[in-house]
Amino acid sequence: MARHPDHDGGRPAISRLRPRSLTVALAALLLVLAAIVVAVQQHEEDHRGPRAQPLAGTPLRTLARRAGGRLIGTAVDDGALRHEPGYRADLAGQFSSVTPENVLKWALLEPTRGKVDWSGADRLVAFARRHDMAIRGHTLVWWDQLPAWVQALKGNAARQAMHAHIRAVLHRYRRTIRTWDVVNEPFADDGRRHASVWQSQLGDGWVQDALRTARAADPTGSLWINEFDAEAIGPKSDALYALVKDLKARGVPLDGVGFQAHLTLHGLPPTALANLRRFAALGVDVAFTEVDVALADGDPASDALRRQAGVYGDVARTCLAVSRCRGLTVWGFTDEHSWIPGTQPGNGRADLLDGRLRAKPAFGALQRELAAGRG
Ligand code: XIL
Repeated sequence: MARHPDHDGGRPAISRLRPRSLTVALAALLLVLAAIVVAVQQHEEDHRGPRAQPLAGTPLRTLARRAGGRLIGTAVDDGALRHEPGYRADLAGQFSSVTPENVLKWALLEPTRGKVDWSGADRLVAFARRHDMAIRGHTLVWWDQLPAWVQALKGNAARQAMHAHIRAVLHRYRRTIRTWDVVNEPFADDGRRHASVWQSQLGDGWVQDALRTARAADPTGSLWINEFDAEAIGPKSDALYALVKDLKARGVPLDGVGFQAHLTLHGLPPTALANLRRFAALGVDVAFTEVDVALADGDPASDALRRQAGVYGDVARTCLAVSRCRGLTVWGFTDEHSWIPGTQPGNGRADLLDGRLRAKPAFGALQRELAAGRG
């Protein structure tokens, strides 16, 4: 039987190519790869933008600074930070503070005990430093986005793990992250403590334990409690108020209380301003820390976007009316990267810019209110 010429001598075919044809083949391969990269980029641009015009007007961060030295912040999506130049440009251009949306949470830092992945948080810290932005460290002790191994801890093992976690994170970032959501969402809607491994294993004292541990690890950081749905005066904010009052009276280190303000077209509750003021009167800073205003998918754009702008404006006005309000942080600034559609199906369009980074009426409302608050 005749041998196939390619298998002559059993040597691989490539070794018999002459150097010149090898170069030609490699060049052709590179051309094909380059064409694929260009095609993918083109596809992304078609899909996401970019918008035709840069955002008009004075940057929000300039307006916020002029309005009594306030901060305007946003939660940052790590994927967008890595892959989207337009997102990075608006982030640096408009905002003076960042909050990692997820990368600093325990479940993402240390899914397996002892194997810590700092890369996402390091990336955001480096970006923030390059662009002269403050950082909110979100969050050290919470009931959600906890690794399974933490949820399973009992008694003193839970306490040790909490201490070790706070110390490790603060040791790494205390020089760069100056404000910390040490405790996130301690209360349930009815004003009782939210169920968690901390609450069940350590009892009510876990909050002061976390704050004291943070202070020992970071003597000068600003230490906060951050809460959800506590904007109105009511059972939940009353419980939070009583806790803050008690902590301050006993000298537990606490510098601020964050109100998340995940809102809808119902808007900020009418008691929000009085609520912020009563907390500030206890001797803590306050801020809106996770603002978004979700629309129902069925809401017609013209009306809903106008009302949404009114809600954002109201949030800014309320903060500016309280001298201890440090500023406001939105929970994402583009509808392309908002947690709302994924967690509340049927709702979305909650952010300042649309999915192609074009300003919505809410963006203009924020500009106007911050400009009007110039001190
Ligand atoms: C949300 C993130 O936006 C989502 O990407 C994640 O899947 C779940 O957590 N209160 C908080 C934030 O304090 O950390 C939450 O962020 C939203 C509610």
